Amino acid sequence: MTESVFARGLGRKTAFLCVVMTFVCFGCDVPAALGQEHGEPTKVILDTDPGTDDALAMLLAFNSPELHVEAITVVAGNMTADAGFENALKIASLAGRCDVPVAKGAIRPLLQELNTGKFWNGANGLGGAELPPAKCKAGAAFAPDLIIELVHKYPHQITLIPVGPLTNIAIAVAKDPAIVPLVKEVVLMGGGITGGNVTAVAEYNIHSDPEAASIVFNAGWPITMVGLDVTEITLVTDEDVARLESKPGPETTFAAAVARFQIGTYQGTGIFHGGAVHDAMAVGQVIDRTILKTQDMRVDIETDGKFTRGMTVANRKNAIERNVPEGDHLQSMGLEAVEPNVHVAVGADSRKFVDMLIGRISGK
Ligand code: BDR
Ligand code: CA
Repeated sequence: MTESVFARGLGRKTAFLCVVMTFVCFGCDVPAALGQEHGEPTKVILDTDPGTDDALAMLLAFNSPELHVEAITVVAGNMTADAGFENALKIASLAGRCDVPVAKGAIRPLLQELNTGKFWNGANGLGGAELPPAKCKAGAAFAPDLIIELVHKYPHQITLIPVGPLTNIAIAVAKDPAIVPLVKEVVLMGGGITGGNVTAVAEYNIHSDPEAASIVFNAGWPITMVGLDVTEITLVTDEDVARLESKPGPETTFAAAVARFQIGTYQGTGIFHGGAVHDAMAVGQVIDRTILKTQDMRVDIETDGKFTRGMTVANRKNAIERNVPEGDHLQSMGLEAVEPNVHVAVGADSRKFVDMLIGRISGK
């Protein structure tokens, strides 16, 4: 469609608008909790590097009846794999969910060194919030192997929710590419099309393992990218923490401490007026499709680039110029369409999401 519209000479701006509108979706007439078919909860695997916002994402998933958490898989990222694994086991114990397997995966990115995140998560990864020793037992499986096993066990039913560097998911795809068509969808936290948080253009999860991200973005499965464009405008505030604290209990007390740390850290930068809870939004998207507005785009991962390594390079128009050799140079002949590969979150009902997060964790 794109090429023919442009070839007929329709004004470029108008044509771009048409193309863009074709791919924009806000809720898309999809019912809340789309994943629920026949009343069944959506089977999810949360791949995480806990991590403060990872911890809130886990609590949201555990406390949402629309989801059935089949596994927590841990990747090195905010924390070393060992420390993240320990945190994951403690959080599962806190939520009373020792029925959920917790597996440790990659201990470092595919090609580069690990970059942990003490500034954003505190020394223990949980914003200083202390948890008792884990009651849940460590699983023996290697996380990518567990992902492969579960995808084959539940073909077309598993939604992957990666909220850390994409190393585990890339290893699973590399070890067994047959899982790709068997995964229902991938809803990940990472990237951004309007700027980064590690560099000017790269977001942490993608920047931490761009080669892995490139494998995941090019695998050919349905991907929703919940990036900084929505997670940095969806902030928890002191009032939200007070709501958690008004329902005292182990989970609310922990979540309030984590959220307070987030608020302090983010406000301390002088850039934000509340705390970002990035990862929880990816979980929120699987629970309720009316929270985020998405737009379909071609997204590629920059793996080179002096200033741009780890950037999610998004083609908002899904079109590139077509150039052909003419004598000693190239001549532009029009535009050609590029196939979108990602549903990119471009807008959010932030209050609705935060209310859901606080409500779910406080048992309302
Ligand atoms: C992402 O980076 C990590 O620090 C957070 O847990 C989140 O997954 C935000 O850029
Ligand atoms: Ca994370």
